[in-house]
Amino acid sequence: MRIADFALERYFARWEFAVEHLLCASDVQAYPMRELLDLADGETRALWADLTLGYTESTGHPLLRREIAALYDGLEPDDVLVFAGAEEGIFCLVNVLLGPGDHAVVTWPGYQSLYEIARAAGANVTLHELREDAAWQLDLDGLRRQITAATKLIVVNAPHNPTGMLPDRATFDGLVAIAEESGAHLLMDEVYRFLEFSDDDRLPAGTEAAERGVSLGVMSKSFAMAGLRIGWLATRDRDLLARCAAFKDYTTICASAPSEILALIGLRARETVLARSAAIVATNLERLDAFFETWPDRFTWVRPRAGSVGFPRLTVPGITIDDWAAGLVAAEGVLLLPGSQFGFGGNHFRLGFGRTDLPEALERLEAYAARTLR
Ligand SMILES: Cc1ncc(COP(=O)(O)O)c(C=O)c1O
Repeated sequence: MRIADFALERYFARWEFAVEHLLCASDVQAYPMRELLDLADGETRALWADLTLGYTESTGHPLLRREIAALYDGLEPDDVLVFAGAEEGIFCLVNVLLGPGDHAVVTWPGYQSLYEIARAAGANVTLHELREDAAWQLDLDGLRRQITAATKLIVVNAPHNPTGMLPDRATFDGLVAIAEESGAHLLMDEVYRFLEFSDDDRLPAGTEAAERGVSLGVMSKSFAMAGLRIGWLATRDRDLLARCAAFKDYTTICASAPSEILALIGLRARETVLARSAAIVATNLERLDAFFETWPDRFTWVRPRAGSVGFPRLTVPGITIDDWAAGLVAAEGVLLLPGSQFGFGGNHFRLGFGRTDLPEALERLEAYAARTLR
């Protein structure tokens, strides 16, 4: 298999552990291990203490799959397959579903795996472009036109990275109707689910709403535990899940034993875990709002509706975001992610607001802006 470099990951490989402030991270401030263990109940504390480090069940620890299934209405543990992160779930699903001659429609700009793996599998990919002037919303008429007889997979990431887009209920229902009509599978990348700024905005999961819906989840984002590398696919299409399980025999075979137990603890304590994430994100977002209010003619800001990232745009004539971000990291040690890393033009950049050092990072950014954008 030949596959193009994952631009964002190459960019992070260069910068992530070399800068003082990641103002573009997509995850929430990592949960401290000690605090997580304090959340264990009697059963999980014993599972952790008595853990032996052998191979684990390939489909995922039964208790973990039960806990994941409980996140979805009407799902059973056998509707869940555990992976090493969401990334492995995407890799297996797309390889199982798509081959030469098949077609996929994928939201864009976005997480590169969602379309690059399809291309590498030999499928034709149509990007469904989200536009700032449409508040990054899905264009259902456009989507309908993009579907062909060969379309096997529609991929929508919502809450969306990098824009923070979340469809309203009517748009979501329209999307599901289009997917059902087409006969294609609908992969809903829901790794930022549970980070809706208003609980009323939470949409049904893809697997709840569409017969061929597949929900992708992970511990990394809303649950603030990226280091566990535990993700999952949830779907009522058990035949598809079985094919993904067979494919996984060629990737990781099974998940990390300690990670499975830690993920189980985190999911059982999800109210506490998610409340912490929501509080971090809400406080940071207020600070970002205040920043953009101060600089209305230098940046655009379509306020995200969910998640931990947004996609503003630098609007100063003659200054590219790539140059400006390079200057910022050199002068202040603050990293932004220019839209070019998504292959997306127009001077956008991703801001992440899940980290607790945001106030200091923003202060430095503001100082740099005062020196360079006045
Ligand atoms: C939309 C989206 N999907 C999937 C992933 C992959 O998650 P993980 O790195 O935890 O496997 C990410 C990570 O940034 C993401 O933003």
